[in-house]
Amino acid sequence: MDGRVEWGALRGKILERVTPGEAERRLIEAFCERTERELTARLREAGLRAVAEVHGSTAHGTWLSGERDVDIFLVLDPSYGRDALQRALDVAKAYVGEGWTEAYAEHPYIRAVVEGFDVEFVPCFRVDPREGLISATDRTPLHTRFVNARLPRAGQDEVRLLKQFARGIGVYGAEVKIGGFSGYLCELLVIRFGSFEGVLGAAAGWRRGEVVDIAGGAEREELKKRFRDPLIVVDPVDPGRNVASPVTDTALWTFVAAARAFLRKPEERFFYPEEEPVSPEALLEALRGRESNLLFVVIEDDDVDVPDILWGQLYKAEKALANLLRKREFHVIRSAAWSDEASRHILVFELESAAIPGVVKLKGPPVEMAESSERFLRAHLNADSTVSGPWIEGRRWWVETRRKQTDASSLLSSALRDGGRGVGVSRRLSDKIAQGYQVLMDEEIAGHLRGDFARFLHRFLKGRPVWLD
Ligand code: CTP
Ligand code: MG
Repeated sequence: MDGRVEWGALRGKILERVTPGEAERRLIEAFCERTERELTARLREAGLRAVAEVHGSTAHGTWLSGERDVDIFLVLDPSYGRDALQRALDVAKAYVGEGWTEAYAEHPYIRAVVEGFDVEFVPCFRVDPREGLISATDRTPLHTRFVNARLPRAGQDEVRLLKQFARGIGVYGAEVKIGGFSGYLCELLVIRFGSFEGVLGAAAGWRRGEVVDIAGGAEREELKKRFRDPLIVVDPVDPGRNVASPVTDTALWTFVAAARAFLRKPEERFFYPEEEPVSPEALLEALRGRESNLLFVVIEDDDVDVPDILWGQLYKAEKALANLLRKREFHVIRSAAWSDEASRHILVFELESAAIPGVVKLKGPPVEMAESSERFLRAHLNADSTVSGPWIEGRRWWVETRRKQTDASSLLSSALRDGGRGVGVSRRLSDKIAQGYQVLMDEEIAGHLRGDFARFLHRFLKGRPVWLD
């Protein structure tokens, strides 16, 4: 009972922060309306059968107050081929004038700051996805139609609460860096479960491969087999797509655990985690006192890729190097990647110990297997690495050998000398690594303990969600 009263007050307080005020609403709406009108006219002048339309959260009335992102789609007649995407973008470039940057996902688009808004101009086609998409973004106009038809005005508040909750616990956004819940997914969950609390209540009981069925009548087992994702939310405008496909296991189960904790005890920190003050001295102290070792790979980058590409490369490199360490018998407790997305990336590996013994007892084949025994003896009898043996113990051959690498820093350094290509680092990132990298251990990271990296490392060392007591 008390909890509910408190939540009522907290809910009001959060809503006040996330709901755009009248002035903000009017400003965005006027900007959207004018851009649609002017850009549509430009598209017509260029002889294109296309219109400019605002989509995404500004069109759904679900953006968070203070967010300056506006998504403008250049919706092309489906009689065009994919080459029209570029033509439409050229019109947007001329309209923006200067200062746009072009990016490619599946699909080219441009970003520009216009009158203080971060605007994305994305070309797409007017199609029915059931009849086949022409480009990956063609569903978006249909999403707007669906959400605006099914999400009542009161539901917009619920979506904002859910988005801010997901953001607070670090799982908001479908981008590669986060692998979490997109805005559209939050909208669909509110449509399905009616309210923010309804969504959390459902999530608290989710199982692996959970199917959230909006249209009704889903063949759950069939969907599970088809998508194989941790969470399945079929796109109501395109049954062939799982809206939750970007959601990783870690993001899903973080959300589920946070939902349970929140329902038990609603607190502001789920939405707005307290930032503990972090000092470089305290971090160094923690690193020195820690019984494990931390290894850092620092990469300078003067030509950073768009975030989704960059994070894909960083996570791949992180995994590749962690695997290398494990293969060479280091015990990796955890690893992570950090980047300022501008000039510096840092991979972090926590090891039980960065130094392992110089010798290891190696198991050979059973003596009864004649051929394998021959091979084992040939390999070890006169090898430089052999310290002692081979000998027979019980039914097998054994040998004591010297390890090639006993020091994790040197192992990483030598693996990265060619940029890490040989162990599975992507070409683009390995080119950058080859130009310059550092492998640092524990307090050797001292020179980098500022700003966002210091906060990141603090949370990494703590190793626990901020909402967990
Ligand atoms: N979209 C999508 N799948 C994604 C990302 C985006 O289908 N993984 C589509 C959705 O139709 C969405 C639109 O692109 O409505 C805009 O995406 P985005 O700006 O990323 O999300 P918003 O819903 O606008 O949320 P936010 O408030 O965070 O901008
Ligand atoms: Mg948006």
